[in-house]
Amino acid sequence: MAVHRNKTEDDITAEALERFAQTPDPRLRRIMLGLVNHLHAFVKEVELTEAEWFQAIEILTEAGRMCSDKRQEFILFSDTLGVSMVVDLINHRKPDGATESTVFGPFHRLGAPELPAGGNIAPRDKTGTPTLVSGRVLDLDGQPIKGALIDVWQAQSSGLYDSQDEGLGGELHMRGRFRTDAEGCYRIRTVLPVNYPIPSDGPVGAMLRATGRHPWRPAHIHFVVSADGCEPVTTHIFDRRDEHLGSDAVFAVKDSLICDFLLHEPPGGEPHYTAEFDFYLKPAAEQRTSVLDAQQRLAALGARAAE
Ligand code: BEZ
Ligand code: FE
Repeated sequence: MAVHRNKTEDDITAEALERFAQTPDPRLRRIMLGLVNHLHAFVKEVELTEAEWFQAIEILTEAGRMCSDKRQEFILFSDTLGVSMVVDLINHRKPDGATESTVFGPFHRLGAPELPAGGNIAPRDKTGTPTLVSGRVLDLDGQPIKGALIDVWQAQSSGLYDSQDEGLGGELHMRGRFRTDAEGCYRIRTVLPVNYPIPSDGPVGAMLRATGRHPWRPAHIHFVVSADGCEPVTTHIFDRRDEHLGSDAVFAVKDSLICDFLLHEPPGGEPHYTAEFDFYLKPAAEQRTSVLDAQQRLAALGARAAE
């Protein structure tokens, strides 16, 4: 294409696309051409002003400044824009019957203790209502999977994750790893999950306020369930009674992940909840990136941000 110096917006788009069309790696070429195409179309569609362009640069700069080993503002942007869930859906298309996945979120930590069946992940939570979560891990034929690993994490009844709670001084809390028994059963003692707002003291919070959105996530417990020969699933279970199920700040609720938390008030005994949930794993396929790789890459990102 001849280079024009009397340029229209569309000439610039065409010229940029022509340059990126020379990218040797075919996947990178496809991504860059798509990115330039859509980004230019977006700028032209909204007729972005220079002030707005500069504000976008300020927002991204501030997002970078907020990132640390405890905070990933860019993932929070991806989550609150719905991008994380679209990526999740594209990458984890499940056959009927397999447990659906949902966002990983920024609060997973490596190194949670391996606990016996019935172990308590909430030993320091004195205000939450005791809760027993149990169920089975099964394959798609309904056969129990023995020795499946259940990595579980949850916010404290204060609504804070351990990494957000300065009083814990970096200690791990509300996390554990459990193994299923020969019948595929698991049992986890915890406290009733509560709803909580995602961190809103940075640019993501400013975006939510400016667009009239709330920062709340419905009460949930996080899981990564994995077993030999199966594709791991990263998911949550949600409390059916939560008022924010229809407006989760990160769009992560799926009907199949909503669970009944039942209150028991035994005479003379302690009130407590029980919840039952079975996980169905599909056979392992070739994966582009495994969940465990993703966990390790996220941890490394936090460590680099802390340097
Ligand atoms: C979480 O559930 O831990 C979470 C997920 C996405 C953004 C913020 C928090
Ligand atoms: Fe969470």
